[in-house]
Amino acid sequence: MRVTALEVSNFRNYAALRFEPASGVCVLVGQNAQGKSNLLEGLSLLSTGKSFRAAREVDLIKTGAPVARIAASVQTRTGEVQAACIITRAGEGARKKFLRNGRSVSYAQFLGGIAAVTFMPFDLQLIAGPPALRRRFLNIALSQANRQYYHQHATYLHVLMQKNAALKTPGPVNGALLQTYNEQLADAGAHIIAARAAYVRRLSQEAATVHARWVGAAEELSIAYQPSPDISDETPAAILKSLQAALSASSALEVMRKTSLMGPHRDELSFAVAGAVLARFGSQGQQRTAVLALKAAEYALLAQATGEPPLLLLDDVLSELDADRRRAFLGNLGHLEQAFITSVDRPELPSQTARVYQIAEGRIADAPLGAALSA
Ligand SMILES: Nc1ncnc2c1ncn2[C@@H]1O[C@H](COP(=O)(O)OP(=O)(O)OP(=O)(O)O)[C@@H](O)[C@H]1O
Ligand SMILES: [Mg+2]
Repeated sequence: MRVTALEVSNFRNYAALRFEPASGVCVLVGQNAQGKSNLLEGLSLLSTGKSFRAAREVDLIKTGAPVARIAASVQTRTGEVQAACIITRAGEGARKKFLRNGRSVSYAQFLGGIAAVTFMPFDLQLIAGPPALRRRFLNIALSQANRQYYHQHATYLHVLMQKNAALKTPGPVNGALLQTYNEQLADAGAHIIAARAAYVRRLSQEAATVHARWVGAAEELSIAYQPSPDISDETPAAILKSLQAALSASSALEVMRKTSLMGPHRDELSFAVAGAVLARFGSQGQQRTAVLALKAAEYALLAQATGEPPLLLLDDVLSELDADRRRAFLGNLGHLEQAFITSVDRPELPSQTARVYQIAEGRIADAPLGAALSA
């Protein structure tokens, strides 16, 4: 999959831009605050429909402008796809609209049209940071490959919000209403757990393989899925039964605590090397290598699911890695149709670089490759 043209107007610090990136590894260099990450954010938005960093979507619109537009033509194995997102100021917030091949589509229909794996320094916290980061990782990876997953997850979150609101309402709790919510949560939740369990099993195998290639087989990496509740049998019917039972068993405690305590919104992922849990015992270097293996595995599984290499968006991450890890990561991805890599320094250029672009004040110019290629 590769972007042949990107058109942006009034997005972040870009007033108007048309960019026709090369295939292969495109390196975007520029000083701080020039628009490197903004460009990756725009590409990622066309893949996941969401910003990888904005808490407020209205911030994506250029200051003072009413509407932002991001559009791309993407060459996929089944032909050319046009994807666009239009963000319009609405009161204090913003409204988003999605288009596919010029026609307005829902968020769910938009999702999965452009497959991308994003990797930024923040991801280095995936191992030891809060559990919500690991659930977010699973949701993004699974939603891109599996539209059904996205639907079930959206339903689950919607019902969970209603249930939490009911639990927080002062006065006696409506038992029948809670039960209805629990039934809906169990149905959607069982699908989520089944999909996550299957995905993590494959992810763990794939990550272990690349990790072994880098550090040797003695330090075996394993990724374990720890669903809420614990399940012993991974068949969909058994998961549903366990979840239903766990929800009823925790009901009294949930009423007392006024919040939902059981279900996949409490799931965890745990990483271990040679049996030692990385979040507790791993060195910084071990954690970094494990995240690299995780991202390489996410890339490989998304390529398998879609039948072609996804886009790779690396924001500043190469400068966070030593030369060995950089080489190991890029060298492992196999056939890479297109990658966008941002960097402040030119000497950071990876050897696979196809083209270097200079970004300054929301404008892009071709920059000569130069002699300063390093690993
Ligand atoms: N809505 C907006 N309107 C106008 N400018 C914006 C908006 N949002 C962000 N910016 C500006 O965009 C600029 C570039 O941001 P970006 O994060 O892309 O920089 P960068 O090139 O990645 O820099 P760094 O190397 O520091 O990561 C910043 O100066 C920021 O203030
Ligand atoms: Mg940046």
